[in-house]
Amino acid sequence: MDSNGVPHGNQDTTKNYEEQDLEQDFRSSELGTKQYWDGAYQRELRTYKDIGDVGEIWFGEESMNRLIKFLRKENVETDAAILDVGTGNGILLVELAKSGFTNLTGIDYSAAAVELAKNVLEQEGLSNVKVMEVDFLSCPANLTGFDVCMDKGTFDAISLNPDSTVDGKAHYLKALQWALRKGGLFVITSCNWTKEQLLHFFKQEFEFHQELPTPSFMFGGKTGHSVTALVFKRLH
Ligand SMILES: C[S@@+](CC[C@H](N)C(=O)[O-])C[C@H]1O[C@@H](n2cnc3c(N)ncnc32)[C@H](O)[C@@H]1O
Repeated sequence: MDSNGVPHGNQDTTKNYEEQDLEQDFRSSELGTKQYWDGAYQRELRTYKDIGDVGEIWFGEESMNRLIKFLRKENVETDAAILDVGTGNGILLVELAKSGFTNLTGIDYSAAAVELAKNVLEQEGLSNVKVMEVDFLSCPANLTGFDVCMDKGTFDAISLNPDSTVDGKAHYLKALQWALRKGGLFVITSCNWTKEQLLHFFKQEFEFHQELPTPSFMFGGKTGHSVTALVFKRLH
C-alpha cells in the first residue's frame, strides 16, 4: 500500500483517489479458489449424508426471507426464470420453491456443492429444480435469458480469487449480462463490498433499483451494515 492506501501495482493514474478507493481490491484469499469450495462442500456433503445437516447458510435464514419478501413485493411472477449463482447447498432454491416459485435453476462450479444441493432438493421432494455444475464466469450457452439472477456471497468469493481479482470481477459483469434478460433483476447480497462500491461497480451496466434492509450496527457514533443487499436492473 502507498500512503493513500492504494495497493502497490494497482494504481491507475487516470483515476482520482475516490475512484481508486471504490475499486480497491481486497487481499486475495483461499475463499476465492475452487479448491477451497470443493473441500468445504465435500465436508458438508459427508456431514449431510451422516446426520442430515445441510451446513452453512451464508448470511443466515433472514437473508433468504429478505429476498423472498422482495420478490413478492415486486410482484415477480411465480413462473419467472430465477437463477441462483453459486448456489452452494441449494437452500435458497428450497426456500424459493416452498414460497411458490416454479422455474428455478441453481449453478455452482463445485461438483460437491451440486451433489449436496441435489440431495437436499430431492429430500425435500423438489426434483423439478434444476441444479448444474457450471463455472458462471464461462458464460455457458444455455445459461441466458433469466428474469432474475440472485447472488448470495458468490461475487464476494469471486472477488477474492488470488489469480485475478480484477479479471474475475470483469468476467462476472460479462457473465451477468449474458445470464440476465434486458430489464431483468439482479439481487446481490455481499459482506465484502460496501453499498458505494457495489453501486460504483455495477452501475457501469446496470441501473440501481433499490436497497434491501439489512441489520445495522452502531460503532463510534456511526451506523454501519456488515451485510449489503442491493437490487439492480439490466439496462441493455
Ligand atoms: C459464499 S458461498 C455462498 C453459497 C450460497 N450462495 C449461500 O448463500 O449459501 C460462494 C459459492 O459460490 C460458488 N462459486 C464461486 N465461484 C464460482 C463460479 N465462478 N461459478 C460458480 N460458482 C462459484 C462456491 O462454490 C460457493 O458455493
